[in-house]
Amino acid sequence: MPLGYTFGMIKPSACRKNHVGPILAMINQAGFRISAIRSTKLTKEEAETFYEMHRGKEFYESLCEFMSSGPIIALLLEKENAIEDFRKLIGNTNPSMAEEGTIRKMFAESLQKNAIHGSDSIENAKREADFFFNQRERY
Ligand code: CMP
Repeated sequence: MPLGYTFGMIKPSACRKNHVGPILAMINQAGFRISAIRSTKLTKEEAETFYEMHRGKEFYESLCEFMSSGPIIALLLEKENAIEDFRKLIGNTNPSMAEEGTIRKMFAESLQKNAIHGSDSIENAKREADFFFNQRERY
């Protein structure tokens, strides 16, 4: 049974370039309901914990520096089959391979500055949603 929600995060580069509004509109138009939303700025340590599964990879340090370089938008998104559908909407992690019409194709600047993050599994969706939102913040 697929999870009815996923976690998304608009990255600092997309926030800096004022892409938040258009990205949220695309998310709504694709049928997701925003169950929780917050603008916040991660500390380097928080970014390291959030991206724990990538610790040790050659891009990890630089990714955590970047993710703590400015505000992000954290999103809890509700929809049937949310994880898979959201990953389709955002497109390939590497924007040069993302399909036309996907969020990353439209707004990414590079592999690291790829506009938006989306959970890749049920386990990570639960962990990432819990990282940002307590039960009273989910409507
Ligand atoms: P995201 O969906 O946030 O999950 C992990 C992030 O690491 C990914 O998007 C990219 O921004 C980044 N990433 C993944 N692979 C690489 C790579 N080979 N080089 C640089 N950054 C990467």
